Amino acid sequence: NSDRANAAMKLVFRGMFLHSTRQTALEVLEDALLGVDTDGKIAFIGKSQELEKLSQTFGFNPSDVIQLTQHEFFMPGMVDTHIHASQYSYAGTALDMPLLQWLNTYTFPVESRFKDLEFAHRVYTQVVKRTLRNGTTTACYFATIHTDASLLLGQIANDFGQRALVGKVCMDRKNSVNYCETTSESKDETCRFITELLNRKYPLVKPVVTPRFVPSCTKDLLRQLGTIAKKTNLHIQSHISENVEEVKLVKEQFPDFKSYADIYHKHNLLTDKTVMAHGCYLSDEELSLFRETGASLSHCPNSNISLCSGVLNVRNVLEHKVKLGLGTDVAGGYSASMLDAIRRTLDVSKFLTIQNPEHSTLTFEEVFRLATLGGSEALSLDVKTGNFEVGKDFDALRVNLSVPGGPIDLIQNTEPKIQLEKFLNLGDDRNIVEVFVAGRKPHSLSSGVLEKPRR
Ligand code: GUN
Ligand code: FE
Repeated sequence: NSDRANAAMKLVFRGMFLHSTRQTALEVLEDALLGVDTDGKIAFIGKSQELEKLSQTFGFNPSDVIQLTQHEFFMPGMVDTHIHASQYSYAGTALDMPLLQWLNTYTFPVESRFKDLEFAHRVYTQVVKRTLRNGTTTACYFATIHTDASLLLGQIANDFGQRALVGKVCMDRKNSVNYCETTSESKDETCRFITELLNRKYPLVKPVVTPRFVPSCTKDLLRQLGTIAKKTNLHIQSHISENVEEVKLVKEQFPDFKSYADIYHKHNLLTDKTVMAHGCYLSDEELSLFRETGASLSHCPNSNISLCSGVLNVRNVLEHKVKLGLGTDVAGGYSASMLDAIRRTLDVSKFLTIQNPEHSTLTFEEVFRLATLGGSEALSLDVKTGNFEVGKDFDALRVNLSVPGGPIDLIQNTEPKIQLEKFLNLGDDRNIVEVFVAGRKPHSLSSGVLEKPRR
């Protein structure tokens, strides 16, 4: 603790903290004290009886301590490991077709509109504000093929104060609506996107190399994107094995490869900074390849069900020791709330148990870990987040179960574990009374409704 004692203290809270560690899916710290330094990092976490000693070591005034109420607790901010910011405008609609038709009918025409920066500004502002309100402190975003609009998404996330990975989408195979690039455009614009975003030195936002998925990319493009990712040591995101037709198409396009995962692997696109969405149809051998390369999976249950794509057996993925986080996959998934992703994850796991009573159902504590620490680890961010360990950035939600007009009626039991269970199953954004990213309140929330982000 004491090596952080020199940093000035910005915030000290006293109350209940709920988080996960690698060893324990739910650790309860009742009546704890947590200090955040001026860099937004957790300086200490201790018992409230240590107030005297901690205030001396870390140089804060005990009267400045912020006391949570009886029905409040802190939990880590949630990590959305897969969301298409550009699809937010039609979230909640257009869920009547399987993936490949859905892309051509609804998705590609809408994404084409992001050439228009004014449209992009409207949609991207809405999605960043909405996800922050819903408690998403980190989002891993797909934008569109348009470099300038993708840069704008990075700016908006940073200005509002959300931690984000942002990808300019790459796709060089023709489709029916002519939403695509040439191979060299895709490569050159990816380089321009990366350079410009890094040059802006946003503290919270980093670029991610983003081949849309194998069916949208030629071998040549996959190779060039793999080379870029390797040279720059950047993050990579894409989709894999989401839907049966897609898997079949990939086999036809790349007959010489052992598997879908092998195609990404042979193009240097499976690394310990890769996150792949879905993976419903991955073989155990492919999961082993994920394990060996350190690549992770984003589980998007709302999307998997809404587009009738498939069912991911999360237990099997975890048994293969593959890193896994949760994703909303807006707009294939209709909800931009990670609480929804938690609930769908539990539903799908229970459905697997209905089908096979031997299946070991995920617990709500395990799914809580996937939505927080699991997501943070799946994204392999340089800045560590995901729980309340000393030295990590303070990305956190202050939850109040008993807000006036809120969705939860607390009739009796206030046991910590049960409070969390109530919130995960019944809560919504009304219960998220404060959001912190790197120790600061996101700009869209700190002063009520704010239309213009800070510059
Ligand atoms: N596969 C390729 N592109 C997409 C997309 O936009 N959404 C989903 N769910 N799957 C994809
Ligand atoms: Fe997706």
